[in-house]
Amino acid sequence: MDKTSPIGVFDSGLGGISVLAEIHKQLPHEDLLYIGDSIHNPYGIKSEEELLSLCLAICDELMEANVKMIVIACNTATSACVNTLRKKYPIDIVGMEPALKVAADQDPKQSIAVWATDFTLKEKKFADLMDRFKDSHTIYKVPSPQLVRLVEEDRLSDEEAVDQALEDSLARSHQADSIVLGCTHFVFYKEHLKKKLPDTISILDGNEGTAHHVRYLLEEKGLLNCEGGSIEWRNTMPEKIEQSKQLYQRMEESQ
Ligand code: SIN
Repeated sequence: MDKTSPIGVFDSGLGGISVLAEIHKQLPHEDLLYIGDSIHNPYGIKSEEELLSLCLAICDELMEANVKMIVIACNTATSACVNTLRKKYPIDIVGMEPALKVAADQDPKQSIAVWATDFTLKEKKFADLMDRFKDSHTIYKVPSPQLVRLVEEDRLSDEEAVDQALEDSLARSHQADSIVLGCTHFVFYKEHLKKKLPDTISILDGNEGTAHHVRYLLEEKGLLNCEGGSIEWRNTMPEKIEQSKQLYQRMEESQ
């Protein structure tokens, strides 16, 4: 493994493509290898044991491909197994975290709605994060599995279904001052959501911070690549690769 090795990025399906696009934006000369586990989607309803076994299989495949770093571009998988993966593999493992701190830092007295999977919201990792802000902020947990489903079913252009799913999550958000998108699938809805809300409501996600962290770690280890820039696509349902590329393009165009 050296600086020309790819960065491995994986997700329960297609949500992690939003992270991939941000990494490529910030680090255009890195080679990226993306694995989508669409055959096992959604992760948000699985047990911790199931998630660990799925993530180990993917990380083994990434290690076989000689990656220099693994990015778990999935909040659910991060909550379930980032610590175990960090102990097992000898390279940096970067995970996702709902951008609650960024939201809390913006305004000391605000209310924050966190949209994520049931799994992420029930995990100890999120409870610990919430504990840090619960005395100063009102935090609403908003499980939004339908927003994962529409991405995976290639229905982002189905205006009516998207609108209904967003309205449903908004109705459970208690008119919070900030909405934290705590699932990488939800980033695809950001522009649509912005149009529905006044400018005073912030919509935050963890993608930019994650890509910054990837850059920081590569710099620190002397592993930044200046020559690459390719993307290799893999999926446990190979027929999803075309849809993945289209989603990626959509994401790049909105950046
Ligand atoms: C899911 O597969 O349920 C979504 C996982 C996530 O990005 O948190």
